[in-house]
Amino acid sequence: MHYTEDEESALTRCNSEDDVVKGLLEGWLKLSVIGLGWMGLPTACLYASKGVEVIGVDINPRVVELLNKGTNYLPSEPELDKLLKEVVGKGLLRAITDTREAARQCDIFIVVVPTLVDRSGKPDYSALEDVAKKLGEGIRKGSLIVVESTVGPGVTENVFGRVIEEVSGMNIGKDLFLAYSPIRAMAGRTLIDLVKYPRILGANDDRSFMLAKAVLSLIVEGGIIKVSNIKTAELTKLCENIYRDVNIALINQIAVLCERLGIDVYEVIEAANTQPYCHLHLPGIGVGGHCIPVNPYFLLDVADREGIDLTLVKEARRVNDSMPIHVVKLIVETLRRLRGQVERAKVAVLGITYRGNVKEHRYSPVLEVIDGLSKLGVEVVVFDPLYTKEELASIGVKGVDSLEEAVRDADCIVIGADHDEFKDLDLDLIARLARKGACIVEGRHVIKRPEDVLRRGLKLRGVGRPYYG
Ligand SMILES: NC(=O)c1ccc[n+]([C@@H]2O[C@H](COP(=O)([O-])OP(=O)(O)OC[C@H]3O[C@@H](n4cnc5c(N)ncnc54)[C@H](O)[C@@H]3O)[C@@H](O)[C@H]2O)c1
Repeated sequence: MHYTEDEESALTRCNSEDDVVKGLLEGWLKLSVIGLGWMGLPTACLYASKGVEVIGVDINPRVVELLNKGTNYLPSEPELDKLLKEVVGKGLLRAITDTREAARQCDIFIVVVPTLVDRSGKPDYSALEDVAKKLGEGIRKGSLIVVESTVGPGVTENVFGRVIEEVSGMNIGKDLFLAYSPIRAMAGRTLIDLVKYPRILGANDDRSFMLAKAVLSLIVEGGIIKVSNIKTAELTKLCENIYRDVNIALINQIAVLCERLGIDVYEVIEAANTQPYCHLHLPGIGVGGHCIPVNPYFLLDVADREGIDLTLVKEARRVNDSMPIHVVKLIVETLRRLRGQVERAKVAVLGITYRGNVKEHRYSPVLEVIDGLSKLGVEVVVFDPLYTKEELASIGVKGVDSLEEAVRDADCIVIGADHDEFKDLDLDLIARLARKGACIVEGRHVIKRPEDVLRRGLKLRGVGRPYYG
């Protein structure tokens, strides 16, 4: 029990949203953002840019050191460079590694730490538990916590809330206030999404909701969407990503069938989506990033405990996880057709990230494709304009610094990521440098007109495409 009567947050004096905003802008309320990664750092910078004094917390000392120098360590968030320099320069944002210290100094806490799953699909909420424990050791009565990490329904209350109550000896809804508001932004355009998208907010009591709404409204222009409670807000976020996972799985299965039927799935998608109720997604090499392939497991974990079998959600995961293997099969089949064997064939992979234009390869399906090919004795060379040769080597793949080097003498050219640089591929260069009759295999759809490829003596295939050649 750490709480004593005289350790109250100035938030206890706030009776309206206006009071909270005033407190933050006048500096008698302090805000802490815990977890300064892809989502947390832009969040901290946005608050600081409004004139709020922000203490950022991250357990990684390297991140803290860089941020205190005003150095943006997140690639693919270029707008952040300027903003971060500005707010650090003005003394509005400083970073520390000590969550307990932030708990003692601040009144409002935004928690954006990672939430993961292990290899068996079991959720790992240890970062959230760690934050709850440390906050519980220093937090003052009357403080507000807004959890923004993605979690299964019930986790904010039953995992995070339980720990903080146990450690602090205080009660949520009476001494401490708790709300949940999921992040809907996409890495690479976080600063825009955090401001423009409407924001879901749920709390279990009116005061928590009022306080959290005031805080979020400072940076969110897209409006706050109230849902009945924390659990509903948690599930809403999961549904958004599961919707995408299931729909991608649907089109991935149809895409595989299209390859057999000699139908181009992209033509089907374009035509079908002219019907107002049809929103076919895009197929591809696999689903990556740390949201869509991870979030369904948060729900499956809860559903399993309730004895509900979410077969569709499970099947979508299975289908999408099988796509890198499918792409390996496509490449192997192509190599056999072109050279009779796969051993010592050269395959150039263009792009290793899970999404175009974002320098993030964690959970990227392209790495699985590279691994699968390498195991079959194929020489795989990677070119990704977002990575240097050295960076690629540190990931464990053989990288080169130019498209020319990658495609020279290649039997297959695999499009791994739809970076802007690949959307207007220099097909003349590929035709000149790759092996005669080489095949482009699309893992992401960048080639709109197969005839452009055929005209240059190259061949084309890809997820959902017939063999053009
Ligand atoms: N990245 C996305 O596109 C995205 C989008 C929407 C929601 N989310 C969710 O937001 C949350 C954060 O994701 P992210 O992409 O920003 O993660 P990230 O891995 O980029 O960053 C998390 C940061 O938290 C720090 N951290 C880890 N444990 C900590 C602890 N115990 N105390 C303090 N700091 C700690 C890490 O050092 C890291 O800097 C996750 O729940 C994720 O699912 C992410």
